[in-house]
Amino acid sequence: MMPVSRLTGSLIPAMAFLAYLRPESWDPCTEVVPNITYQCMEVNLYKIPDNIPSTTENLDLSFNPLRHLGSHSFSNFPELRVLDLSRCEIQRIEDDAYQGLIHLSTLILTGNPIQYLALGAFSGLSSLQKLVAVEINLVSLEDFPIGHLKTLKKLVIAHNFICSIKLPEYFSNLSNLEHLDLSNNQIQYIYHKDLVVLHQIPLLNLSLDLSLNMIDFIQPGAFKEIRLHELILRSNFGSINVMKMCIQALAGLEVHQLVLGEFKNERNLDRFEVSAFEGLCNLTIKEFRIAYLDKFSWKNNGALNCLANVSAVSLVNLDLDDLEELPKDFRWQSLKLISCKFQQVPKLALASLKTVVFIANKVINTYIKFTLPSLEFLDLRNNGLSLRTCCSQANLGTNRLKYLDLSYNDIITMTSNFVNLEQLEHLDFQYSTLKQVSDFSVFLSLKKLLYLDISYTNTKVIFNGIFHGLHSLKVLKMAGNSFLNNTLPNIFTEMTNLTFLDLSTCKLEKVSQGAFSSLCKIQVINMSYNHFLLLDILHYKNLHSLQVLDYSFNSKMAPKVQELQHLPSNLMLLNFTQNGFACTCEYQEFLQWIKDQRQRLVKVEQMVCATPPDLRGMPVLSFTNSTCQMNKTIIGVTVLIVFIVSVVLVLVYKFYFHLMLLAGCKSFGRGECTYDAFVIYSSQDEDWVRNELVKNLEDGVPPFKLCLHYRDFIPGVAISANIIQEGFHKSRKVIVVMSQHFIRSRWCIFEYEIAQTWQFLSSCSGIIFIILEKVEKSLLRQQVELYRLLNRNTYLEWEENVLGQHIFWRRLRKALLSGKPWSPEGTAEAENSQPEATAFI
Ligand SMILES: *[C@@H]1O[C@H](CO)[C@@H](O)[C@H](O)[C@H]1NC(C)=O
Ligand SMILES: *[C@@H]1O[C@H](CO)[C@@H](O)[C@H](O)[C@H]1NC(C)=O
Ligand SMILES: *[C@@H]1O[C@H](CO)[C@@H](O)[C@H](O)[C@H]1NC(C)=O
Ligand SMILES: *[C@@H]1O[C@H](CO)[C@@H](O)[C@H](O)[C@H]1NC(C)=O
Ligand SMILES: *[C@@H]1O[C@H](CO)[C@@H](O)[C@H](O)[C@H]1NC(C)=O
Ligand SMILES: *[C@@H]1O[C@H](CO)[C@@H](O)[C@H](O)[C@H]1NC(C)=O
Ligand SMILES: *[C@@H]1O[C@H](CO)[C@@H](O)[C@H](O)[C@H]1NC(C)=O
Ligand SMILES: *[C@@H]1O[C@H](CO)[C@@H](O)[C@H](O)[C@H]1NC(C)=O
Ligand SMILES: *[C@@H]1O[C@H](CO)[C@@H](O)[C@H](O)[C@H]1NC(C)=O
Ligand SMILES: *[C@@H]1O[C@H](CO)[C@@H](O)[C@H](O)[C@H]1NC(C)=O
Repeated sequence: MMPVSRLTGSLIPAMAFLAYLRPESWDPCTEVVPNITYQCMEVNLYKIPDNIPSTTENLDLSFNPLRHLGSHSFSNFPELRVLDLSRCEIQRIEDDAYQGLIHLSTLILTGNPIQYLALGAFSGLSSLQKLVAVEINLVSLEDFPIGHLKTLKKLVIAHNFICSIKLPEYFSNLSNLEHLDLSNNQIQYIYHKDLVVLHQIPLLNLSLDLSLNMIDFIQPGAFKEIRLHELILRSNFGSINVMKMCIQALAGLEVHQLVLGEFKNERNLDRFEVSAFEGLCNLTIKEFRIAYLDKFSWKNNGALNCLANVSAVSLVNLDLDDLEELPKDFRWQSLKLISCKFQQVPKLALASLKTVVFIANKVINTYIKFTLPSLEFLDLRNNGLSLRTCCSQANLGTNRLKYLDLSYNDIITMTSNFVNLEQLEHLDFQYSTLKQVSDFSVFLSLKKLLYLDISYTNTKVIFNGIFHGLHSLKVLKMAGNSFLNNTLPNIFTEMTNLTFLDLSTCKLEKVSQGAFSSLCKIQVINMSYNHFLLLDILHYKNLHSLQVLDYSFNSKMAPKVQELQHLPSNLMLLNFTQNGFACTCEYQEFLQWIKDQRQRLVKVEQMVCATPPDLRGMPVLSFTNSTCQMNKTIIGVTVLIVFIVSVVLVLVYKFYFHLMLLAGCKSFGRGECTYDAFVIYSSQDEDWVRNELVKNLEDGVPPFKLCLHYRDFIPGVAISANIIQEGFHKSRKVIVVMSQHFIRSRWCIFEYEIAQTWQFLSSCSGIIFIILEKVEKSLLRQQVELYRLLNRNTYLEWEENVLGQHIFWRRLRKALLSGKPWSPEGTAEAENSQPEATAFI
């Protein structure tokens, strides 16, 4: 055999050769959405593939060495919306390269070392909205042939070699332009004349990003009477003086949002002074944002007064100290402090503030004392705060609060039940540790609360009144907590408007009766990741609005089917996945129910059996009724076989001798009779047999040969074998000597039964009854068969008188003679016999 490495070693060049021969038959692209999206990233294409459907809308050709785009390069793809040509080593783009792409809205040309861009390169792109031309060796906007792209909204020409911001005349054609990214170019000077075109299109809602250009000089008034949506100036200035001068030169600009500061890894200023902001007074700013400035201090600086009329301030990644000294006449409405460093939570006091966002800051002293009478929205997420008292007007300084987020903090102790915070609508504590939340009705005053999240707050619910007062609540999330005795108590009694309830991961094992009964508007209940052993549907029976019930990731699951008929009618999604299903015939009805309800059940094909071991991991759907029927059949057949075998055994035991008889019959056959008759009698009657029967029959004429056990049985052979082999098989007839003793002897009766079988098997009539003495009727009745026989048939009766005895012997001889093979001595007697109509059976 050829080793694998050698095999692949010879295959790869062969394939490469084939690919080289017929490149168009080689399909390296990935179909992401059939006929719509194709991914051909880094597959060594030298030309545009032509085996991709013409219906394609999104085509990624990045990282292929295309090198050159001739005219009508994409005429095969008239439906293209998005075309990515990043880093395709493209050096030349000819006229009409994109001609025909009338739907193209996004064109990405990033990272191509373009040397020649034809004037008509972008012609035909009548719908283009976004052009990303980062790092394409662009030197000047003047030469960039985009003046006809009237639909253009976003132009990204960052990371090029543009040294002048002079916006060419054609910008007046780009009336839809909203975003111009000129960051990371080589713009040093900005003159008034560069921006003249912006005056010609005054309604332009433009965001202008000039970050990472080393600006040395801005002509004062260059931005005068210009309106921008956003101006971003980050890491632009080599010194604090240049920064100050440039900001002053922005005078007259009207901008919705001004962003200043630096980048984390692009620091140019070795120190920062707030005086640099002095010039901001001559600007009109709505929102102001600073990022990454070292040692930022508000203290004692008139320059900050220029920000007095700003409505929103964001401070990101700053080292801040003394925010509390904000002048009272500031009109800020929104303050965002994100990822900053503080000694303590600033004691904010500002009448105008409505929104405070304080996220992911590093704070040493976490005591909160705000005086913010207008505050409605307070987001204190993820600061490691540890609050010894929470929450009331006293520490938050407002009674208008609607939204409070204290999630992802440290320990929060619930001491005051939201005194004067009755306006709260949204309250989030998830992943903070709540103390004393279950000690009393903490939320009692929050009549307007709509949303409460106390997930993963280490809460153990021990008090049933924990949620008292939450009449309006719509969403309650309390995953990852626990309950007394792992039983869900009746704690939702007042929440008639609740629509969403998350109780996942609460170690629940039981639900108390009526726990959900007041939730008449509930739509989603999440009970996943608990320890329920079964689903008691009766709890959900009357929840007529319930649409989603998530019962996944619980323990073994086998509800009663009668109960499953009580599923709420509006239930659309029932998630039963990841439960251990018992795929046994015992739960056959439930398993059938799963099949019937497969529309409602989530990912029903992923529900697998946990038991029995041989079905573990099998899809529940693969369980079929026939498995059980087969089992039933097997059991039935087994039972039947066992029954038959035992019956046969019993019969064999009982009729052992009869069977021996049968076997003997086969081997002996007929005509070998040594005896004329085998005599069955009770040993008590042996005298009569010896003295009367033997004498009269064996010594008479003709002589009959009798088989008598005391004389003819072979010694050393079992008595039963003698009875059958010597007695029955070698005799033509059987004489039964009936007496009181005979009937009383079980052995005699047994011999008689064998005699009957023998008669039946050998089909020769041959039992001759002799009644030796009158047998008591009652005794005889016990032997039902005998009684019937003697009643029906004729028999010989032994008489004491001589005449009677004479007749007896004559009749007996006659009976014995019938069927006896002819012999000369016996003929005369036989012919003399009287024609008595005696039938012996
Ligand atoms: C893709 O397009 C071909 C040809 O137009 C068509 O036969 C096929 O059904 C389409 N496939 C899908 C998934 O739309
Ligand atoms: C601007 O649009 C006009 C037509 O609206 C067109 O004639 C002119 O050439 C365009 N300017 C440039 C620079 O393409
Ligand atoms: C201006 O553009 C920004 C996005 O850049 C958008 O959010 C804002 O609504 C626009 N304003 C107007 C008046 O069109
Ligand atoms: C605002 O601009 C005026 C002239 O345009 C100038 O006199 C004044 O000093 C500027 N104020 C600030 C604070 O730069
Ligand atoms: C802020 O607005 C008030 C009133 O409109 C005005 O008197 C004050 O000069 C403004 N301050 C600044 C810095 O623009
Ligand atoms: C429940 O919601 C309805 C409508 O959304 C509202 O009219 C009713 O006042 C609410 N009930 C309570 C107790 O808030
Ligand atoms: C919780 O369980 C304990 C013992 O297991 C029992 O004494 C107590 O009554 C149970 N409490 C409730 C509320 O069921
Ligand atoms: C239920 O909760 C689990 C775990 O918290 C989550 O993964 C799942 O998406 C939730 N189900 C629904 C229907 O929201
Ligand atoms: C159960 O199914 C629903 C609906 O598909 C889904 O939203 C939810 O996340 C699932 N639950 C879990 C625990 O994955
Ligand atoms: C399977 O068995 C169940 C319960 O015994 C019965 O309701 C159902 O109709 C059966 N399904 C088939 C396909 O025989």
